[in-house]
Amino acid sequence: MSRRPLVAGNWKMNMLKENGTALAAAIAEKYSAVKNPACDVLVCPPALIVSAVADKVANKIAVGTQDAHALKSGAHTGDISVEMIKDVGATYAIVGHSERRTDHFEKDADVKAKAQAIIDNGLTAVICIGETEAQRDAGKTIEVCRTQIQGSVPENATAENVVIAYEPVWAIGTGRTPTADDVEQVHAAIRAEIANKLGQKVADGMRLLYGGSVKPSNAVELMGLPDVDGALVGGASLKADDFWAIISACL
Ligand code: 13P
Repeated sequence: MSRRPLVAGNWKMNMLKENGTALAAAIAEKYSAVKNPACDVLVCPPALIVSAVADKVANKIAVGTQDAHALKSGAHTGDISVEMIKDVGATYAIVGHSERRTDHFEKDADVKAKAQAIIDNGLTAVICIGETEAQRDAGKTIEVCRTQIQGSVPENATAENVVIAYEPVWAIGTGRTPTADDVEQVHAAIRAEIANKLGQKVADGMRLLYGGSVKPSNAVELMGLPDVDGALVGGASLKADDFWAIISACL
């Protein structure tokens, strides 16, 4: 089963309208110049500039948000519905990032409800999972990932409407990564758990991204692993040259 890799940039709370649109445009321009690119590219700017970025590049690369509310509309101050995300030309939304789970106390059930809203509106959910350092030290990495898959992924998820991003919390923004063997072992276990939940066919087609200190220097090794189908990149996605070097590992 061949899966088309996805390289996604999560800009987190970085970039303003001018430098953000310029960054996305630089990536879109390089990507457009590649004949038959072998991977998809996604950028997820802060919500306030998603519209401006989508206007500039959505015909060349995909644009997404970093969160989405589970409900359609109503009295939810500060939140953004999937309908609004779709309205400005974005086609993906990240949900369940560990920073949202920590900063906003989001639980698996919240993540699942958000992912469900994204699926129901015809967009693609990038559902993040991953263990903390304490959980890893306790030998619970795979158990934690299995529980998060069971709790955060909707029952009608398919290879088209959901992407899973495995991001060990201790690897985010630290410069530390698991070994390639560890990443492959966890990704294989995640795929097996998706097969348990959704069937082998869905599991075989679903893209599993690795995230956490992905850089140009480790991208080729990590992206070459059999069960790794791309990357969710934080810090290195803020520099066009670094992000492009990571994309190039999948092209
Ligand atoms: P870094 O690439 O900065 O470690 O961040 C990873 C991440 O959290 C992407 O969602």
